[in-house]
Amino acid sequence: MLRPVTFAICGCGDRGLDAYAPYQTLHPEEMSITAGADVRPERLALLRERYGVPPEMCFASDGELLAQPRLADVMLVSTLDRRHVSNALAALDKGYHVLLEKPISPSLEECRALQKKAHETGRTVVVCHVLRYTRFYAALEDLLRRGAVGKIETIDAVEHVAYWHQAHSFVRGNWRRSDETSPMILQKSCHDMDILRWLAGEPCLKVQSFGSLDYFTAENAPEGAAERCLDGCRCRDACPYDAEKIYITDPRTGIRGRGKDWPCGVLASEPDEDKIRAALREGPYGRCVFRCDNSVVDHQTVNLEFANHIYATFTMTAFTQSCHRTVKVTGTRGEIEGDMEANVLRLRPFGGREETVDLNREGGQFSGHGGGDFGLMSSFCKLIAQGGGAGLTGIDASVESHVMALAAEASRLNGGQTITLSEF
Ligand SMILES: NC(=O)c1ccc[n+]([C@@H]2O[C@H](COP(=O)([O-])OP(=O)(O)OC[C@H]3O[C@@H](n4cnc5c(N)ncnc54)[C@H](O)[C@@H]3O)[C@@H](O)[C@H]2O)c1
Repeated sequence: MLRPVTFAICGCGDRGLDAYAPYQTLHPEEMSITAGADVRPERLALLRERYGVPPEMCFASDGELLAQPRLADVMLVSTLDRRHVSNALAALDKGYHVLLEKPISPSLEECRALQKKAHETGRTVVVCHVLRYTRFYAALEDLLRRGAVGKIETIDAVEHVAYWHQAHSFVRGNWRRSDETSPMILQKSCHDMDILRWLAGEPCLKVQSFGSLDYFTAENAPEGAAERCLDGCRCRDACPYDAEKIYITDPRTGIRGRGKDWPCGVLASEPDEDKIRAALREGPYGRCVFRCDNSVVDHQTVNLEFANHIYATFTMTAFTQSCHRTVKVTGTRGEIEGDMEANVLRLRPFGGREETVDLNREGGQFSGHGGGDFGLMSSFCKLIAQGGGAGLTGIDASVESHVMALAAEASRLNGGQTITLSEF
């Protein structure tokens, strides 16, 4: 690479500044952040401190950044869902390549408008479907393409969201309302639609879906539940969703065990226990999970028919202990089962010996979506350094899986009606 690819970060939140920007620290020869924008001054302060971006290149809004002439090779769009397309369209007009956080948009028209503009400008638009860049899914896709199970017949995938992650992001947090951000199947599970399409290797023809918000509703509030966990709630001891447990005392998720990273880093910049307690007393993350204004589903299933008679099922459930994904693929000559948490694939060729593909043995980086966040950055920087192109998760492939997700949501809202994608 001749010089690092330069980035302007539009939206210096958790994804922009904490998930992708650190790739520069690891690979300064590949990535260099030259500018950024955020409406929160404390995030711009971190951009200056951590990456030495000069104050005159730090802007107080997306609009201000996008009003400048082009300041980098790439605009990383990591604002919230509803700003993605307007930010990306403006960036393409200025001549940037775009690295775009998912989902592209909850509106199919907007997805198509961005796809059209990307083709017209000839610039690269890659969507952050980070799972394709994990060793786990890359190894699975490679086995399938090499015919390890013969012709694929079925795929069953489960997204185990985890009770605390659901409470954090989809009951108390940013993505609790589909009218403000996106429906769950798009917001969280567009990754899974994208992976299913990739593994199937064939276009999706039909979808059908059921799902609802069953548990995190006012009717399920136990007797004695307060509006906020720290406001003398009498149900806290028995409640796994108690905010103090999730953000302070639980060793897997709280500040005492996990430290200042996500999810605690979402409650306060550079958090400590005092800052977390203050956020729980006053902010959205201290609310009772039965007394929020959430609307997104807490469990959903999707049936999918792909070309070549491949059938798939997908289940998303909030009600799991840990946050991970599992998958089983069957074919005419064998089956493969995978667990992304264990990072292991088990291949069982019919009439042959079981083979275990243990991806942990290969070493390397597994944090940040099983290594997918940095895997994406590595692949994207190479793509841009070589002049751009479609990439592994370019706009065309990503719009295809967004159509699947939006059709699944339409089906769910229509009582599970089967939707033919060519007519959608
Ligand atoms: N690829 C993945 O796996 C993945 C995972 C989580 C989130 N996401 C997506 O990433 C996006 C960002 O999520 P996040 O968790 O970083 O949220 P976040 O709230 O931490 O970050 C969004 C940032 O945008 C800033 N912002 C808001 N309005 C702005 C404006 N007008 N101009 C400039 N900045 C503005 C906010 O202050 C915030 O810092 C979301 O769309 C989400 O769906 C993707």
